[in-house]
Amino acid sequence: MENQGRNRKRLVLVPGPFQGHLTPMLQLATILKSKDFSITIAHTQFNSPDSSAHPDFTFLCIPDGLSEEEVRNPDLIAVVLRLNVNCESSFRECLTRGTNRMEPGDKICCIIYDALVYFSEAVARDLKIPSVVLHTISAATTIVRPILLQLKTQGHIPIPDSMLQVPVPLHQPLRFKDLPLSNFGSLDYFLEVVALTYNLRSSLAIIFNTIYCLEESPLAQLHQRYQVPIFPVGPLHKLAPTSAVSLLQEDTGCIPWLDKQTHNSVIYVSLGSVAHLNQDQLSEMAWGLANSKEPFLWVIRPGSIPGSEWIESMDEEFKECVKDRGCIVKWAPQKKVLAHEAVGGFWSHCGWNSTLESICAGVPLICQPCFGDQKVNARYLTHEWRVGLELEGEIERGTVERAIRTLMKEKEGEEMRQRVFDLKHKFDVSTGDGGSSCHYLSKLVELLTSL
Ligand code: UDX
Repeated sequence: MENQGRNRKRLVLVPGPFQGHLTPMLQLATILKSKDFSITIAHTQFNSPDSSAHPDFTFLCIPDGLSEEEVRNPDLIAVVLRLNVNCESSFRECLTRGTNRMEPGDKICCIIYDALVYFSEAVARDLKIPSVVLHTISAATTIVRPILLQLKTQGHIPIPDSMLQVPVPLHQPLRFKDLPLSNFGSLDYFLEVVALTYNLRSSLAIIFNTIYCLEESPLAQLHQRYQVPIFPVGPLHKLAPTSAVSLLQEDTGCIPWLDKQTHNSVIYVSLGSVAHLNQDQLSEMAWGLANSKEPFLWVIRPGSIPGSEWIESMDEEFKECVKDRGCIVKWAPQKKVLAHEAVGGFWSHCGWNSTLESICAGVPLICQPCFGDQKVNARYLTHEWRVGLELEGEIERGTVERAIRTLMKEKEGEEMRQRVFDLKHKFDVSTGDGGSSCHYLSKLVELLTSL
């Protein structure tokens, strides 16, 4: 239960309701708590975090008005739009009415909200509470998103085939095909969310879960565009290593399995908390892994293969073939897995959290972006930081097998391992005393304290 220090300033943090968004916000909350702020997490009913894992915070549930049917909608962008419409008045009411854990008049010095839940800014402005936005994606993705809006105005969405390989002017190393388009439901809805999340409105500053040395150029461009303080205080998981953030139950049984494998021998495979696979993709991935003959730990989320509960539809021949060197789990303790000495490569969808976690652990990647910002991250990983191989086009077992061999066994993979190790060292410096992330964190704390 939170210690209700009388002189503490209260921050209300509003996370986006998806794993990749909840994680960095809860980590930020843990860090700010350690700087002596009182913390309230105001969350939607949809995908609500486990409050019992955070006895130091108070939790405020915002009625989101989503029906059963809306919650099951696979078009997550439509869900985001609906939430923002539904939650504005209920959040305002929560803050003005108070609750038994946060009394009316309890002074809130700032609302820190995920860019995805922009209704929070409208409420903050209305109640004259200062607000700061947290971007849980990279600075490079944030800076190129408005290009999608320009392309739409020019009639170039969907992006024509003739433009796909063309470099995006001023945004090396991206090609037009790497721009962060979503493949969920309606494109118009997606572009509406892009426009709404890009607008800073009255917010005083922007927090990024990134590191200055990794994204110096896009951060400078963003600063020029927004003209407000920008705080790259990442990687947040490194500054808040103990924060419990998982929405799904972690299967820790894979750690004793990893303990039995040799150094750098295992390829860890996970496509994050949102992506789905069809039966063909699943089968090509499976046989690529089997044919590579390397040990692997594979996360397959229940429900991520349409028509299957879990892996019951998988080929029995495959299961038999890999039974001695493959481990499949529903959800893994990913940071522990990446830090395990047996893990030598990460076949990832390149979500921003996974990208940062892999670099922090010094693990090179096979990049299989599925949609949105993952395409930007994959391009940076493969062509800017050069710590990953990209799997382009349709997943095919022969390509998968070759990529795994290259990463795990060949000189090219070894060079990537060296480069990611160098980058990990830079991250260690940035998050250590006197490093850039600590510097920006103290600047952020200074700003919040002054409000
Ligand atoms: C979503 C978007 O898909 C992504 O593109 C965006 O950058 C953030 O929001 P998600 O797909 O879940 O995120 O990917 P990612 O950002 O990598 O976050 C996944 C998180 O779940 C990571 O922190 C990872 O450690 C964790 N995880 C994943 C586990 O703890 N166990 C697992 O088995 C898999």
